[in-house]
Amino acid sequence: YLIGIDIGTSGTKSGLFDLDGKMLSSSTVEYPMYQPQNGWAEQDPEDWWKAVCLTLKEITRDIDSADIAGIGLSGQMHGLVMLDKNGNVLRPAILWCDGRTAAECQQVTERIGKERLLQITANPALAGFTASKIQWVKNHEPWIYEQCRHILLPKDYVRYRLTGEFATEVSDASGMQLLDIKNRCWSEEVLTKLEIDKNLLAKVYESPEVTGRVSTAAAEETGLCAGIVVAGGAGDNAAAAVGTGAVEDGKAFTTIGTSGVVYVHTSEMAVDLQGRVHTFCCAVPGQWHVMGVTQAAGLSLKWFRDQFCGEEKNTAKQMQVDPYYLMDQEAAASPIGCNRLLYLPYLMGERTPHLDPSARGVFFGLSAVHQKRDMIRAIMEGVCYSLRDCLGILKEMDVCVSDMTACGGGGSSSLWRQMLADVFRCDVCTMVSKEGPALGAAILGGTAAGVYASVQEGCKAVIKKDSVLKFCEADSIVYDKIYRIYQKLYPALKPVY
Ligand code: XUL
Repeated sequence: YLIGIDIGTSGTKSGLFDLDGKMLSSSTVEYPMYQPQNGWAEQDPEDWWKAVCLTLKEITRDIDSADIAGIGLSGQMHGLVMLDKNGNVLRPAILWCDGRTAAECQQVTERIGKERLLQITANPALAGFTASKIQWVKNHEPWIYEQCRHILLPKDYVRYRLTGEFATEVSDASGMQLLDIKNRCWSEEVLTKLEIDKNLLAKVYESPEVTGRVSTAAAEETGLCAGIVVAGGAGDNAAAAVGTGAVEDGKAFTTIGTSGVVYVHTSEMAVDLQGRVHTFCCAVPGQWHVMGVTQAAGLSLKWFRDQFCGEEKNTAKQMQVDPYYLMDQEAAASPIGCNRLLYLPYLMGERTPHLDPSARGVFFGLSAVHQKRDMIRAIMEGVCYSLRDCLGILKEMDVCVSDMTACGGGGSSSLWRQMLADVFRCDVCTMVSKEGPALGAAILGGTAAGVYASVQEGCKAVIKKDSVLKFCEADSIVYDKIYRIYQKLYPALKPVY
């Protein structure tokens, strides 16, 4: 068996797979995201660990865990976890979607120089990335920084609890903005200029390398056997790439999870000189990827569900279905364009294409004619337009995007997938396994354990294409017109954000 653990923003999902990639059991435990101020986002790392223990116990209940060959970790990227000398968490983790660090981004740019920063880290300073979060703690909570002895990313904190090792891997480390993306190692220059001690950082591995083994203490807490191999794993997007087979030039996927991402694999490093999309190392040793990020994709719909869909939640409970299923049906009853209602999904600021942590969400064109169904559909359409912004930049960069797969919770809605195909004007396929990051992590675990000869071989053995959704030319024309209006809204609103 193989195990993939995905430490997401809304919850942790662990999956037990056979060596052909078939999911035998899975378990998800949710946890809260705290927003102590408008635009801030934090989580308690202890919640991740509790969720990992619970889900691992659940999925291994009916098997002998001595038969598990390897474990891979995947998780939300960029989050800042700080530990003291005893390995205790010093403050809540500051997450990828936290936008408090606009001033620190400026500081990072000034200290390193805009061009040099792009040359080394392949990206401009962004509020989402870890470097500016570290600077924020230094500036605002110096007493915490003084006690800090270890800086870890979310999944690497779980690795520490699982194995006792302080380790990370190139795909997730890329999002810290402290890594030399070309040479796949910590950048001495960036660390010196930001006055960050390298000893605070974990050892960097490639994604399919062995980083440690399940410790005796963790074995007791999780119900696993001690000694199981734990692979480097990958940030959730790089792991989803492995889990959807996007490990060759041109292969792309779009995921609608809490965030939304359009991702394409590149065997050579490709950088957008305007920094509107991210260039990071991928989980295939020696290769890269480019991706655009919509901060609040699934999060927009989750926010709407939690604030306005109590009725749907109750009915769903009675019918024993997911509330999103009912919301999907409502959205399907609204026409394309939602009776002239548009939504900008900037609840947590926006990365691609605006790089603006102070942007906020908008319903535009609300009238007394609108019903809840129009608002739900407008959210789904708005997320697709934002993802089209991402795709547009990848195309401008001249990177080959030839195959598009959909994954993530949103990708499992055929309505949302069809919208995506029509808005993108391209066919969108799905894979038999819908487990993107968890499956990708499991394949990396299998590669580390020697089950597969390489990441690509693992993908070949495991990933199978399912259906292809064709885009509809007539609907694409309608979406196209609305997208032109959508594109005008952010520039008009920018001065008042
Ligand atoms: C990527 C990013 C998000 C998180 C969400 O840069 O910030 O996709 O990884 O989990």
